[in-house]
Amino acid sequence: MPIRVLPETTANRIAAGEVVERPAAVVKELVENALDAGATRVAVTLEEGGIGRVVVEDDGAGMGPGDLDLAVERHATSKLPDEAMLFRIATLGFRGEALPSIGAVARLSITTRPRDGDAHAILVEGGRKGCVSPAAGAPGTRVEMRDLFYAVPARRKFLKSPRSEAEAAIEAVRRLALAWPGIGFRVTNEGREVLALAPADRETRIRDLLGPDFAAAAVPVAAEAGGMTLAGLAALPAYTRATGTEQHLVVNRRPVRDLLLRTALRVAYRDLIAAGRHPVAALFLELPPDAVDVNVHPMKTELRFRDESAVRGLLISALRRALAVGAGEAVPTPALTQYTPRPSAWSGWRRPAPAPIPRGAAATGLADVQLDLAPAAPSAPAAPAPALPLGFAAPRPMPAPPPAPSEASGGDHPLGRALAQILDTYILAEAPDGALVLVDQHAAHERLTHEALRAQLVEGGVRAQPLLLPAVVDMPSADTARLLDNAEALARLGLEIEGFGAGAVLVRALPALLGPADPAPLLRDLAEEFAAFAEATALERRLDAAIARLACHGSVRAGRRLTPEEMDALLRQMEATPRAATCSHGRPTFLRLGAAELERLFGRR
Ligand SMILES: Nc1ncnc2c1ncn2[C@@H]1O[C@H](COP(=O)(O)OP(=O)(O)O)[C@@H](O)[C@H]1O
Ligand SMILES: [Mg+2]
Repeated sequence: MPIRVLPETTANRIAAGEVVERPAAVVKELVENALDAGATRVAVTLEEGGIGRVVVEDDGAGMGPGDLDLAVERHATSKLPDEAMLFRIATLGFRGEALPSIGAVARLSITTRPRDGDAHAILVEGGRKGCVSPAAGAPGTRVEMRDLFYAVPARRKFLKSPRSEAEAAIEAVRRLALAWPGIGFRVTNEGREVLALAPADRETRIRDLLGPDFAAAAVPVAAEAGGMTLAGLAALPAYTRATGTEQHLVVNRRPVRDLLLRTALRVAYRDLIAAGRHPVAALFLELPPDAVDVNVHPMKTELRFRDESAVRGLLISALRRALAVGAGEAVPTPALTQYTPRPSAWSGWRRPAPAPIPRGAAATGLADVQLDLAPAAPSAPAAPAPALPLGFAAPRPMPAPPPAPSEASGGDHPLGRALAQILDTYILAEAPDGALVLVDQHAAHERLTHEALRAQLVEGGVRAQPLLLPAVVDMPSADTARLLDNAEALARLGLEIEGFGAGAVLVRALPALLGPADPAPLLRDLAEEFAAFAEATALERRLDAAIARLACHGSVRAGRRLTPEEMDALLRQMEATPRAATCSHGRPTFLRLGAAELERLFGRR
């Protein structure tokens, strides 16, 4: 095919795709412009997930008619007075690409009024620019985008559902709001106010965005070195999240998603939190503008540090220090971590046992057992475990525990007879064939609770236990919205909630199976689970994830002493439960060490 030079509108639409890939990107660019214009208040309105309409209004400097005409041209910016500035950028924008890009793929209308002049407006639709005309409006700027990608329908296919797109757009504002605490923000989605933040100091803003529970669990982080200043809050290891979404790094007032922060957090919290959990932090790094290159990513969400290892070192040492101070001497480190067996001592266990499958195993799924002992990490070293009723007898859909095992033979009980509890965490049992069985009581109970909840759900709904006094749980409004959007599904799981203002949820009932659990951490985890799964996932999948969360919260903790009867009851229920060999997180619930394995370990053959 012969080469041809693309018509300008086509070229612009292609280039626009780099900047404007979804409504969240539009929102981010427009809010950044408002902040660069010195706004003190920014209001965002979303409709149809921001695909149908995005409006961003600010009370910033505004533009005169000449500037307005230029603002929608490509590579027109007021923020780079000379070339050398490119290496010390202090504004959020600098490329002059956002407005023309939005205008190339959607319908853009801007109304703006400088402090000492009149209001003017301009329209750009699918890359066609209209004339600047007089208009009416308050000082500041109002930018409206409608019908995203109407001019490039092919790109519409890459958008997710309106709800996911709205969520991402709100998240974009949250991140900017964290970086700019002194500015007021308001977000309205489908007519509902989902974020309302008054101008505040940094600590208050963090608290408003990450929630009071985070603030209560957080310690200050502060450090200075080589012209860099680090400040912020990090949560103690007892407060973790199911995902890494609440790890915030702000560099020179620019929220960035940086691998560096993730790595630093992972290193700093190593050995302090359970595998699969994620620390939470909001950290602010200030460094000279020429020590960082913000011009490496089309959407400016990543950056490059001139001295990456210095930044990493600063983050890790500051976090370590904050955690050590925060933990103090008074709060004991979680006892269990001190006993975590060194891998070498367990290495002999790693080989899957070729041992004979215990009788009845195939039917109960025990055949899936793997002796892969990543020593089941102690559950998050949270506050002392509430005295939960074990409730082994409670879940009715499960077969009633058979009569106590006969002492000698073990009969049809492949997990055998409980001999002892070790470290208040593991049950040691002797299988009928003489094999040694070790059960992780929390993992096992979690799986049983999970299966019982699932069985109740299939039967028509999980039984709910109404609370005598409804509990009020404070949480960020985005989380509240996520939970309320799923309220119907949660009701089927026995968790009855209602809205209670923008930043709180009222809990009316909990799944009966969980016993008297604290709803706050449970709701927090559920909100995260929903955020992580977002839209694309079918309800079934989300329900299942929610069940796993419920089961985890409702299960007997490691560290709880069990009576011999409770131990045997747990073993019998495991035998009667499908998929009992792994917990809801996929870790094994028990290990088996057969006679042959023992002989091998002792070098007897
Ligand atoms: N909300 C606003 N208030 C005042 N001026 C604005 C606003 N939005 C955009 N502008 C002006 O329009 C120019 C172009 O904006 P944009 O395309 O986002 O590029 P950039 O932000 O990279 O300069 C900006 O440099 C600024 O002068
Ligand atoms: Mg801009």
